[in-house]
Amino acid sequence: MIPALSIKNLTKVYGNKKVVDNVSFSVFSGQIFGFVGPNGAGKSTTIRMITGLTPATSGEIRICGYNVEHNFKHAIDNVGAVIEMPQLYPYLSGMANLKLFADFHGAKAHSRISKIVKLVGMENRIKDRVSTYSLGMKQRLGIAQALLNKPKLLILDEPTNGLDPNGIVEIRNILRILANKEHMAIIISSHNLAELEQLCDVIGLINNGRIIEHKTMLEISNELADRQRVQFQCNYPNYAAQLLKKKYQIKSKVIGTSIILPLRENNIATIISYLTYKKVKIYGIKKIQKSLEELYFEMLNSDRPSSSIV
Ligand SMILES: Nc1ncnc2c1ncn2[C@@H]1O[C@H](COP(=O)(O)OP(=O)(O)OP(=O)(O)O)[C@@H](O)[C@H]1O
Ligand SMILES: [Mg+2]
Repeated sequence: MIPALSIKNLTKVYGNKKVVDNVSFSVFSGQIFGFVGPNGAGKSTTIRMITGLTPATSGEIRICGYNVEHNFKHAIDNVGAVIEMPQLYPYLSGMANLKLFADFHGAKAHSRISKIVKLVGMENRIKDRVSTYSLGMKQRLGIAQALLNKPKLLILDEPTNGLDPNGIVEIRNILRILANKEHMAIIISSHNLAELEQLCDVIGLINNGRIIEHKTMLEISNELADRQRVQFQCNYPNYAAQLLKKKYQIKSKVIGTSIILPLRENNIATIISYLTYKKVKIYGIKKIQKSLEELYFEMLNSDRPSSSIV
């Protein structure tokens, strides 16, 4: 299958600084790719290169197989994008904005307007002036605008920036429908990994212009499960620790009246049974989970500072 987007060794140099450094990844139809990284990591610059807003210094970008540099018209015909804030006319209604943008794309885009308005859940407010819209509504109208040309690749640069939790859920629901039902490939950037947790299939973590992790969400949740610790409060913690080391080769840490050990959910019952069988009394059990946010900072901190000077 030809990826909706394929990026190979993409690099951008500003002055003497590599702000995007040898980035490669692909996004396939029906897939939501979360492009995550701290401020200044290079997300927007990468997105601006994909959409032809700024030229790449080197490397290759293909959209549905078309090279962005050599075949821009064909490549960009397959893209819908909202970069930073959607560009809207505040004194016009949402509908007038959509009609104006549909003019760029022709009759087909006009015939899609009502379906798109429904999809983004704006039927009740589409006739109101954009200046009366909340930030969430403006973002949804921006997405509607980006959908007019029936893109195969939808690119959203920080669409949840400044949205309240409700607004984030609304955007998330819209994007899931677009990926699942319309089989769109979607790139969504954010500096907040936790915000993308329930939305993305794949996460690309960018720092100092380089992709430092590229993982499926499933791999990330497995990693979090692997790092889970369980705390057992019991009467003989040192003895319990010795028992578990001998029987299961588990290394545990004793703190006060507790032992803490790395343990997946499905093994907790076995440990309880064994310790009880050995006459250790368990008074309390607590799961100690690493949050996605902690994992994110761990991955960023383990990234070696690179010389970004060319
Ligand atoms: N036109 C430009 N000229 C010079 N440097 C630039 C230009 N545009 C971006 N940069 C620099 O490139 C780096 C990456 O910026 P970019 O906007 O791509 O980051 P980002 O990941 O989108 O960050 P944010 O989360 O703040 O949006 C930054 O150090 C920025 O200052
Ligand atoms: Mg940005």
